[in-house]
Amino acid sequence: MTGAAALGLPGSVAIVTGAGGTRGLGAAIARRFGEAGAAVVVTDRGEADLPALVETIAANGGRAAARTADVTVEADIGALVAFARERFGSIDIMVNNAGIGDLIGPVEEFAVEDWDRLMAVNLRGVFLEIKHAARAMIAAGKGGRIISIGSQASKSGILMMSAYAASKHGIVGLTRSAAIDLGKHGITVNAVCPNHIPNDLGDWQRETLSAARGWTMEEYWTRFRGRVPLGRTGQAIDTANACLYLASDLASYVTGEAMNVSGGEEYH
Ligand SMILES: NC(=O)c1ccc[n+]([C@@H]2O[C@H](COP(=O)([O-])OP(=O)(O)OC[C@H]3O[C@@H](n4cnc5c(N)ncnc54)[C@H](O)[C@@H]3O)[C@@H](O)[C@H]2O)c1
Repeated sequence: MTGAAALGLPGSVAIVTGAGGTRGLGAAIARRFGEAGAAVVVTDRGEADLPALVETIAANGGRAAARTADVTVEADIGALVAFARERFGSIDIMVNNAGIGDLIGPVEEFAVEDWDRLMAVNLRGVFLEIKHAARAMIAAGKGGRIISIGSQASKSGILMMSAYAASKHGIVGLTRSAAIDLGKHGITVNAVCPNHIPNDLGDWQRETLSAARGWTMEEYWTRFRGRVPLGRTGQAIDTANACLYLASDLASYVTGEAMNVSGGEEYH
């Protein structure tokens, strides 16, 4: 297979969770996978913009279907995987993108209910997604690709974000251990770790944390340019491209990784 052919996903079936927001990473990943030839099941906890996303993927020549699922509910994830198999015949790629990042505060004041909610979506959800995707992939006997969306907060602590950072660091441990469990089945398990992306969640975090530090946005951008070697913000398509690589044949010997997509800001 040539390198160019190996980067496509023809004949593959993917699920992308948290794909309901037009500006979100999930929608960008789903569009990219659709362009690469995969059939994509897009899902979120509510309908949101899922029908529009299905139409966009179809308009670009791809195949897609929508289904709602709450990633904290095991029965929803089981049903989601079953839906992908019924609709498109298999499940080859699982992208665990659903997450929340707007529960923040100093650790000494952080409410335990907020801690539990964050862990339920960001970590329990990813565990359930890995578990049920892996079961279906093992039963089909064709291997598979599992990709979870971590964060810069998977590698570094961040002001007022101890719960979010703990959940995103947890994804790295889960990824490394699941990669060991599932390697013998030909299933790779990796994470992608973006830094701030200018979308609904990223803008909110950037503005809220700058205000907490007493920085104007001008000061934020001056510091940002000093910190990020490539000198620009990450875009959703940068994360989508990293997911495409990890889902492709080109990454068949890559597993247990947590890949930074941060313009060089995060390097460990
Ligand atoms: N935006 C950034 O700067 C940034 C940076 C690093 C990592 N991330 C991570 O990327 C992922 C996508 O975030 P985004 O920036 O696209 O934000 P987003 O808020 O647009 O997307 C997250 C999606 O997850 C969905 N979701 C939340 N709880 C859910 C649940 N219980 N069940 C199912 N779906 C649920 C939301 O409805 C939403 O559509 C998240 O895991 C986030 O932590 C984002």
